[in-house]
Amino acid sequence: MAAMPACQLQSIRRRQWLAACAGAALLPAAGSGTTQPQITLRFSHVVAEETPKGLAANRFKVLVEQRSGGRIGVQVFPNAQLYGDANEMQALQLGAVDLVAPSLSKFGRIGLPEFELFDLPFLFDDLNAVRRITLGPLGQRLLQGLQRQGLVGLGYFDNGFKQMSANRPLLEPKDFVGLRMRVQASQVIAAQMRALGARPVTLAFSETRRALATGVVDGTENPVSNFWTQGMDEVQTDLSLTNHGYLGYAVVTNQRLWNYLTQPDRDLVNQALQDSLGFANQMADTQNDKALIALRLAHTTRIHTLSQAQRDLMRQAVQPVHQELARRIGSEWLQTLREALGQKGI
Ligand code: SIN
Repeated sequence: MAAMPACQLQSIRRRQWLAACAGAALLPAAGSGTTQPQITLRFSHVVAEETPKGLAANRFKVLVEQRSGGRIGVQVFPNAQLYGDANEMQALQLGAVDLVAPSLSKFGRIGLPEFELFDLPFLFDDLNAVRRITLGPLGQRLLQGLQRQGLVGLGYFDNGFKQMSANRPLLEPKDFVGLRMRVQASQVIAAQMRALGARPVTLAFSETRRALATGVVDGTENPVSNFWTQGMDEVQTDLSLTNHGYLGYAVVTNQRLWNYLTQPDRDLVNQALQDSLGFANQMADTQNDKALIALRLAHTTRIHTLSQAQRDLMRQAVQPVHQELARRIGSEWLQTLREALGQKGI
């Protein structure tokens, strides 16, 4: 758990708080004012600026502008300002934006269902296990698959582990029965909710808080940093610390842009991105811990911890989801995954 920061939580509004406490994210502005950018890269994403993804995108902007002496500019559009889940990938393919960082759960809808491996519930014990996949041959093979869609995958980064929320505690499968749970556009996550007894409702991230507030859906899953920065605590009475699944991202650009850049510019952009992703991974844990502290202090949402027996019940209930995915994408993918994680068969 991160140490309580010196800044005074009560006197600072939620969004400012996470930013104020993310001191490591703050870098001096690029040598602004003197050089007009010759190339401007537009980076669109759907979450708040104070989340790991928002911080990574802002860091990337600063690094690219500094290292290119302002010759390459980056415009960041957070909070689905330009494009949301439903159309950001299409916008990238059309060249309306240059970089997006969708969650790995959102690649199935563009014909790459293998990415849903990352959504399998209770798959990863910790982030080191995730790293064995993202940095290994399987992760690289998945990124190469993006070429089929005219895209280039530049790298992965974490948000962290997801928690379940609703207007009641969700501690074991019987608690989910009858609930409409908002999910990302991932068949694995939908199957997970069905296996727990809930009805999955696919909604864009930017619509989720409103859907919770109006009762269109009853609950959802997300890492705490997303839960807090979206103000979901104001519309959900209970957050259960299930840590049942992973949320991570891939940064993607389009092949036309990538081919258009000179090799030195590609190297500069790629290095700035890799540095930003390393930073985002460091921030992921911290931002989630800080958001949890803020949430506890806000007293808006009750926070529940599961017993080992409750976790085991959930884990057993969702086992069929693994076989379902194997049937859909081929068992070879899951075998390779298990081998890389040092786990026994599916
Ligand atoms: C994101 O973190 O990019 C959004 C995740 C979600 O749609 O739940």
